Amino acid sequence: MTIKICASTPYEVIIEKGALDKTEELLKGYGSKVLVVSDSNVMPIYGSKFNNAYKLTIKAGEKHKNLKTIELILKTLQNEGFTRSDTVVGLGGGVVGDMAAFAASIYMRGIRYVACPTSLLAMIDSSVGGKTGVDFLGSKNMVGSFYQPSCVVCDTECLKTLPEREIKNGMGEAVKYAVLTGDEEMLSDCLSADKVEGFVAKCVTAKKEIVEADEKDKGVRALLNLGHTFGHAIEKLSRFKISHGVAVAMGIRVATKVAVGAKVATKENAEKIEGLLDRYFMPKAIEYKKEDFIDAIWLDKKRTADGVNLVLPEKLGVCKIVNMTKQEVLKLL
Ligand SMILES: NC(=O)c1ccc[n+]([C@@H]2O[C@H](COP(=O)([O-])OP(=O)(O)OC[C@H]3O[C@@H](n4cnc5c(N)ncnc54)[C@H](O)[C@@H]3O)[C@@H](O)[C@H]2O)c1
Ligand SMILES: [Zn+2]
Repeated sequence: MTIKICASTPYEVIIEKGALDKTEELLKGYGSKVLVVSDSNVMPIYGSKFNNAYKLTIKAGEKHKNLKTIELILKTLQNEGFTRSDTVVGLGGGVVGDMAAFAASIYMRGIRYVACPTSLLAMIDSSVGGKTGVDFLGSKNMVGSFYQPSCVVCDTECLKTLPEREIKNGMGEAVKYAVLTGDEEMLSDCLSADKVEGFVAKCVTAKKEIVEADEKDKGVRALLNLGHTFGHAIEKLSRFKISHGVAVAMGIRVATKVAVGAKVATKENAEKIEGLLDRYFMPKAIEYKKEDFIDAIWLDKKRTADGVNLVLPEKLGVCKIVNMTKQEVLKLL
């Protein structure tokens, strides 16, 4: 199936078993040269789907999501003589996608970018919406750009080789969509062969609606940050041992607790959200000292001069953006 994203530059998200096999055909219409950027886990499995392309394998993992890797991608593009009419493909999870798209957005002030997400998290979330970037000086996604892909090719067959830990990582982000939309049912048995494409499509549609309303993240798009302000702090304090999606799910637990303390959510509604997180085995404990936690939270991009903009769940399907000071948040942790 195909979903059209009506952003400033519209594009299609193709969600299909075996879709990667059709990518070469699609790329033929996109200029003469193609650079496929992938990581050391994904390139050996799926790189062979791209026969007539330049290939760059970067080291896998969040710790390589930095400007050094961007420089490597840019050097490859320049050394191979890529021009504005050529194309970069990001083949991999969210780390590869964020970096390949960022490099494409700044090389010659922007060359075409095609996203081929291979992780669950990248399929349901990071490959759509046009946020690109890298971590910088210890802060997540601190440097980057808004840059829409020309096309997203989502081959659900790739999930077959995805390690269990990464499935759980993606499910963390999927729980976010269930809390935002109030559609608990979308998660049940969602990765089974007959449901997976519909499930990816539901998440992409939820993201599409928010991104189309607020592409540059000035208002309602902040809702997609549910669990992220706390989640990024958890990722950082764990030295990235806790994956992004699981950290987001843990962050939703913290946000729910803060919502009850701030009288945004009733205990009863909070228990329903907690129940959903429990059902998908999302961890409970936050093992960090409150003081370290609050300092890590205060590195977040969503911080303003007076406080931090938190997405707090009122109940399943309804979230609010609330600005709170450091002292207020500390009291409710
Ligand atoms: N741009 C956005 O809107 C947005 C949204 C959410 C998350 N993100 C970013 O996405 C990143 C997380 O993405 P991720 O969870 O995909 O991490 P990731 O890219 O590190 O992928 C996870 C692991 O799975 C491996 N992998 C991926 N696909 C595979 C496959 N099909 N078979 C075998 N192994 C495979 C990767 O090599 C990696 O080791 C974070 O940096 C986060 O900030 C961005
Ligand atoms: Zn996320």
